[in-house]
Amino acid sequence: MGWKTLDDMALSGKRVLVRVDINVPMENGHVTDASRIERIAPTIADIRAAGGCPILLAHFGRPKGQVVPEMSLQQLVPALSDTFGAPVTFVERPSREFIDAQPMNAVVLVENTRFSAMEEANDPDMAAFLATLGDIFCNDAFSAAHRAHASTTGIATLLPSCAGRLMQQELSALEAALGAPKRPVVAVVGGAKVSTKLDLLSNLIEKVDHLVIGGGMANTFLAAQGIDVGKSLCEHDLADTARAIMDKAASTGCEIVLPSDVVVAREFKAGAENDVVAANACPADAMILDAGPNAVARIEAVLANAKTLIWNGPLGAFEITPFDAATNAAAQAAARLTREGALTSVAGGGDTVAALNQAGAADDFTYISTAGGAFLEWMEGKALPGVAALMAQ
Ligand code: 3PG
Ligand code: MG
Repeated sequence: MGWKTLDDMALSGKRVLVRVDINVPMENGHVTDASRIERIAPTIADIRAAGGCPILLAHFGRPKGQVVPEMSLQQLVPALSDTFGAPVTFVERPSREFIDAQPMNAVVLVENTRFSAMEEANDPDMAAFLATLGDIFCNDAFSAAHRAHASTTGIATLLPSCAGRLMQQELSALEAALGAPKRPVVAVVGGAKVSTKLDLLSNLIEKVDHLVIGGGMANTFLAAQGIDVGKSLCEHDLADTARAIMDKAASTGCEIVLPSDVVVAREFKAGAENDVVAANACPADAMILDAGPNAVARIEAVLANAKTLIWNGPLGAFEITPFDAATNAAAQAAARLTREGALTSVAGGGDTVAALNQAGAADDFTYISTAGGAFLEWMEGKALPGVAALMAQ
């Protein structure tokens, strides 16, 4: 593994600085999705059970080094104490003296680390200051591990450091999906643009047996084969790149699965009149908004033969019905195979979790990452600075 866990640390009587990601969506002062808070609860509970005192370090939003009252972490105190089942003490300007004055069974929450510009600059003075606040550093923020900031990497070099329970889970799930997976491995990659996922596709074709491409990205690949995609979302300027990816896939033995049929419409709106046509028969005045039933059957067959699935991005315009059909059907097939014990399924990044929730499939997946950008960077094969700092311990 290369990194320590809470089990390797003597926690009793220690102030444990825990970097968490509680960058949760909020509306009217209420948390609308508490998943990230729920998923760090075991770390907090385990530290407290071992006689340690958790001091939470986190960012919220992108205040860019300014104090932005709407981005104060104070507003999360009720949600955190509800989930942890313990009072949470908020501190705007922490000092070691203040921390030491708290009882050992307290949970302390420090104000938004990004209120100081030194955080994102990974300023050594900020890391050194944060390190004075505790005895041990525990990083439980996989979803912020792609950021090399004072509270994610700088501090890890200054204190005995370990991974929290959520970080452990995320790293094990990702290792099972791409590190040493059971084969065949299939990756489903969807979403609007190839341009944002070039590194991802290049890395995946070296690692997986089947790469299912969906969403607007598929149109770019179809067009690169000389197919007219009408008014579809398509990056025509990436035709050469798409062809290079297909050539490389052919040489690595990775099958690229593109839709053989598609659902087309003339308007991008829910309930728009639509037709199923062959992928090479999109009318000039129409746009492709989803994969068709034959394409879905092909994806289901690939999944049925696979042992491991890694999924990022929807297959169609899943936010408007009925163009969520392919995403729903493929997600439900993956969920069923996972339930039956035939498939290890891991998903994460951006819209993916929303799409799988909408399909009613998320609960059956083996693992759903809490990470957006960090999940993508990890799928790109990049070293995440927050993880690398734990490895260096
Ligand atoms: C996230 O919500 O993706 C993480 O908290 C990282 O936030 P950032 O993209 O602002 O660094
Ligand atoms: Mg982000």
